[in-house]
Amino acid sequence: MKMLKNYFNLNNKNFSVKFFNQRLPFIYIFFNFLYRLLIVNTKVNDDEIKQFHKSGFTKIDISFKDEILEYKDKFFLKNQDLNHKKKSIILELNDDDKKNLTIKIKKKLSPFINKLENYFNCDVLISSIRSTRNYNHKDALNLDEEHYSNHFHQDSYLMTYSKIFINLMDINEKDGPLEIIPRENRNSFIKSFNYKDRRNYNLNGDKSLIEKNVGKLGDCCLFSSPQIFHRAGVPIDYRDNMQIILITIPKKHSGGLEKIEDIGLFEDNEHLFFNFTKPYSIIKVIRLFFLFFKNKLYG
Ligand SMILES: [Fe+2]
Repeated sequence: MKMLKNYFNLNNKNFSVKFFNQRLPFIYIFFNFLYRLLIVNTKVNDDEIKQFHKSGFTKIDISFKDEILEYKDKFFLKNQDLNHKKKSIILELNDDDKKNLTIKIKKKLSPFINKLENYFNCDVLISSIRSTRNYNHKDALNLDEEHYSNHFHQDSYLMTYSKIFINLMDINEKDGPLEIIPRENRNSFIKSFNYKDRRNYNLNGDKSLIEKNVGKLGDCCLFSSPQIFHRAGVPIDYRDNMQIILITIPKKHSGGLEKIEDIGLFEDNEHLFFNFTKPYSIIKVIRLFFLFFKNKLYG
């Protein structure tokens, strides 16, 4: 009886996995469905955008090699007190480096962000930048222990939230690359891995459904972490990565983000934009959809 009740609770992720093959609140799935149907602009002659729309993931044809090589030795580790629980640490920069690197990243990403604004029919802004080092651990096959999102999941946000990853080093299979399930493989993934929850699936599903983000230092990719299943691979040694959070937001409301200084992007700002990326009630999600829809129609 309790099981039955859980399935009919629209916020319950078991319900969503069972009926929609997604581990998101039902109302977020509904929002994304309508946003993809009525708001995004897919009439573009651009392979990266087409790939992103289809798979929720695309490599971006931009290299940050020069920037990363320039700043690689400036990253430093603070409070590196790793223990059996803590296997991921933030790579720090001093304030001048934060500022200068952000300016360079923004400049180089700008044409790509313009393409995304056209796709999302909305403003797209950077809300945070975070560099991390993930270390090896021995729990890759232990679903009860998770150290840094290393079990398959979707991020509990609307599709107005996306991520760009930049490789801070060459990343091969053994360096624990990001693993994603392209959107078109989602149903087969749920079936093959008998996926029930992030702690409850069969680790021996069909590996050919997984794509690994291997690449060179400075390579980057965009992925819709709320729309696609993904996990952090476990490196043999460690993996250094930079993630850039992108927020889709109607122009009228994007003022708050512009107020964040370049240095401030290195703080965790995501909660400031939950109204647009992670609303907590059904009414708020519906209202938000109409806000985006109105923004598309009237600008
Ligand atoms: Fe995630």
